Amino acid sequence: MNSIHRRSVLLAGLGAAGVGALAACTSDSGTTPAALVDPSGPAVAAAEKQRKGTGRAHHVNLTAAPAVLDLGAGITAKSWAFSGRAPGREIRLTAGDTLAAELSNQLPDRTATSLHWHGIALRNDMDGVPPVTQRTVRAGANFTYRFIADAPGTYFVHPHVGVQLDRGLYAPLIVDDPREPLSYDDEWVVVLDDWVDGVTGTPDEVLAELRQGMGGMDMDGMDMGEASAPPSGGMSMRFMLMGAESALLGGDAGDVKYPYHLVNGRVPADPEVYRGRPGRRVRLRLINAGGDTAYRVALGGHRMTVTHTDGFPVEHQQVDTLLIGMGERYDVLVTLGDGAFPLVALAEGKDATGMALVRTGSGAAPKATVRPKELDGRMLTASELRAADDVRLASRKVDRVHRVELSGGMAKYNWTVNGKAFDMDDPAAHPLTVEEGQRVRLDFVNSTQMWHPMHLHGHTYQLDGGGPRKDTAVVLPKKKLSVVFDADNPGRWMLHCHNAYHAEVGMMALVAYRD
Ligand code: C2O
Ligand code: CU
Repeated sequence: MNSIHRRSVLLAGLGAAGVGALAACTSDSGTTPAALVDPSGPAVAAAEKQRKGTGRAHHVNLTAAPAVLDLGAGITAKSWAFSGRAPGREIRLTAGDTLAAELSNQLPDRTATSLHWHGIALRNDMDGVPPVTQRTVRAGANFTYRFIADAPGTYFVHPHVGVQLDRGLYAPLIVDDPREPLSYDDEWVVVLDDWVDGVTGTPDEVLAELRQGMGGMDMDGMDMGEASAPPSGGMSMRFMLMGAESALLGGDAGDVKYPYHLVNGRVPADPEVYRGRPGRRVRLRLINAGGDTAYRVALGGHRMTVTHTDGFPVEHQQVDTLLIGMGERYDVLVTLGDGAFPLVALAEGKDATGMALVRTGSGAAPKATVRPKELDGRMLTASELRAADDVRLASRKVDRVHRVELSGGMAKYNWTVNGKAFDMDDPAAHPLTVEEGQRVRLDFVNSTQMWHPMHLHGHTYQLDGGGPRKDTAVVLPKKKLSVVFDADNPGRWMLHCHNAYHAEVGMMALVAYRD
């Protein structure tokens, strides 16, 4: 029985006790019992009251169900998706509106699910992390998420159960700014995804193989546990990717072989086409919804002006290409040339690409394998960006520092935070505690050989020293990255690697407000 099923069975037994029963626990000092803010308690309700709402509600339905997806070029994949398509239909509202989203769980095999609103600083009980903020939405059941989204930007939604994110269960979520300061003629939302489901196997099969680790390939020759495959011959390598190297990512780029890389759900041989007119300014909203792939993105024949990352504005910078980790978003402006241009998402270190097409005039469409020279042009990493004035955090002294050490490796596939594999059945066992009103610094210390895109729920931190506001940031191997945030959204929030497989085996922690 895999962890997803084990967890949902446990939750079914939780009954009326629900999440409130987890209120008391041990603080991170390990000695004093600390009461933590309850996701459905008064502190969360009070924070929601502070949010400026328009009073307008925006209703959407998301039905999670099996679907046969058309990836283009005659390729279909049996997967799970929202209302039969991947990406799911774009959700768009105006800042301050209330999103009322009804999730209907029609997934097979008693699969429980949830919806997590990635990047949105929303009320904790709507964050969609069972069993931390709600009970799972069981197969056949419905759940309505209702919250004010008060910060404009580019976000997305995905389940927060197991590795369901690596199915087709994701959709862009755009919060418009009623006083949008940027001027542009059009928008194009571009969702990137690494695809395996229904082609070579399912994400659960990928996870099962990865969990075996590299078995006998472990140089220590240790840990040949019963789950490990024999050192040679018998080891299954259907999904595990070896030798994916990227200098930009500091070495090992990824763990998983994906047969396709999709841009807006299509393969390069039969891409989505964005049609526009030469000279028009277009805002691209780039979202990496992948499970295990960073994308290097460029639009052939164009430079891009970076205006936002993870929904928040930055001081504008011109680039040829951007590297986007899982869970990260970038908004860029481009002024369209005349002709047909490839928007290419190079799977960094994996020697494969996804592609969409921009067409503003005649001319032959670029080949599916095209690699525009911009991919090797000027690139900026997040730490080279600066927060825009209006979103930069005021400088103040830090009240609380948490060291967040990333450890583990491929040999045993034992990715952890602070040496502990996160236990979803006992999520408040080792919280990183904060108090409302504190300025908090997280020091990510990456002791592993691999990069990790570290995502914090419910807050948009700032890269230390005036860097951009973000909720997901790449931490390179053997490097340290500090981020600060103001503890202004009480609740229990996940902090984890947005590699779906790293997170699921335990590279997660809980940031919890003391009551
Ligand atoms: Cu995009 Cu914890 O998630
Ligand atoms: Cu990771």
